[in-house]
Amino acid sequence: MLNNLKPLPADKILMLSGLFRADERSTKIDLGVGVYKDASGHTPIMRAVKKAEKQLWETEDTKTYTSLPGDAGFHKAMADVVLADSVDRARLACCATPGGTGAIHNVLETIKMANPDTTVWVSNPTWGNHLSILKHLGIKFEAYDYFDDDTCAIDFTGMIASLQNVQAGDTVLLHGCCHNPTGANLNQTQWNQVADLLLEKGATPFIDIAYQGFGDGLDNDAYGTRLLASKFDEMMIAASCSKNFGIYRERTGIVLAISADADAAKITQGTLSYMNRQNFSFPPDHGARLVTMVLSDPALRADWEAELEEVRSGMLVLRQLLADALRSETGSDRFGFIAEHRGMFSRLGLTKDQVLELRDTHAIYMVDDSRINIAGLNRKNVPIIAKAVASVIS
Ligand SMILES: Cc1ncc(COP(=O)(O)O)c(C=O)c1O
Repeated sequence: MLNNLKPLPADKILMLSGLFRADERSTKIDLGVGVYKDASGHTPIMRAVKKAEKQLWETEDTKTYTSLPGDAGFHKAMADVVLADSVDRARLACCATPGGTGAIHNVLETIKMANPDTTVWVSNPTWGNHLSILKHLGIKFEAYDYFDDDTCAIDFTGMIASLQNVQAGDTVLLHGCCHNPTGANLNQTQWNQVADLLLEKGATPFIDIAYQGFGDGLDNDAYGTRLLASKFDEMMIAASCSKNFGIYRERTGIVLAISADADAAKITQGTLSYMNRQNFSFPPDHGARLVTMVLSDPALRADWEAELEEVRSGMLVLRQLLADALRSETGSDRFGFIAEHRGMFSRLGLTKDQVLELRDTHAIYMVDDSRINIAGLNRKNVPIIAKAVASVIS
């Protein structure tokens, strides 16, 4: 039986990590996989998470199953962070999942069950795993224009023009903040225009929010999500705690689904729980419990928010450093957008050949589409990277 299987395409970003590990040059620089790193290249456990873990170790007295959709305290804490008071909670169904990826998978499966004919619209480009999961689930999808390769900014005119083709009943996937892979994000006026257009079209928004707090702050990063939640009868959200709590391997995420009214929300809740049961049964609890403790305890929360702010502002400093270094190396403003982008990524607008030259000649690793992880920068490697980029584009 297994000899019927065909080789599947490897995940490009994970493959890049393998290439980086195998490179023996001591000068190598990793700007690939999307994990936050501090100035020494380490991915730390956040202070508040470590404290919560200690408390949990001392107080937790059972490892029995939680409920199928996960712990209600986690649901409430996450709904507060992501949605604040934008929607009546009676209309909200929540389900803990293994990471944001688990949430995306379950949202898409739920959408397919509710409307097998829906077309899911994704930004061009988007996170590769969106496309991969859509293909895996056999869901129709289309791309809407999003990024202008020449200016490395949002192509908003193109985006609105493509979204004119959305049909009633379609689903539109939007990155809540810190767009991956481009780093280019909608401003508040643009969010409002997109909301109005999708309402007019009768589409359902699906927000993937995986970097809340990494862009312009916790509340600003949720602006679009909360705006849509306040306007739409129905909406799906997949939120990840991997990055903003630094708990990547604990696999902590959540589906937040908004239904038209409280009765419909009960059926949605039952469907989300069913999805968990079919796919993996009970969701992981350790990370969810840590998140709940951090968000609910005023001292832990204040410490978490302070550290998240250090992470966010540190990345802004690195963005400015790289933009400045590239300006002086290239004598042009071509890379000024790096300081304007937000989140952990920017797409530099280099060709694949230039990316490969950076890898082969300079041991600088970035994704083939020239996406860089801003957290891979530091004061020491920024001048080296700027020189190398200037040399490959000259
Ligand atoms: C856009 C986007 N969505 C969702 C995720 C999901 O992350 P995780 O499954 O690790 O929580 C990621 C992670 O890289 C991402 O970049």
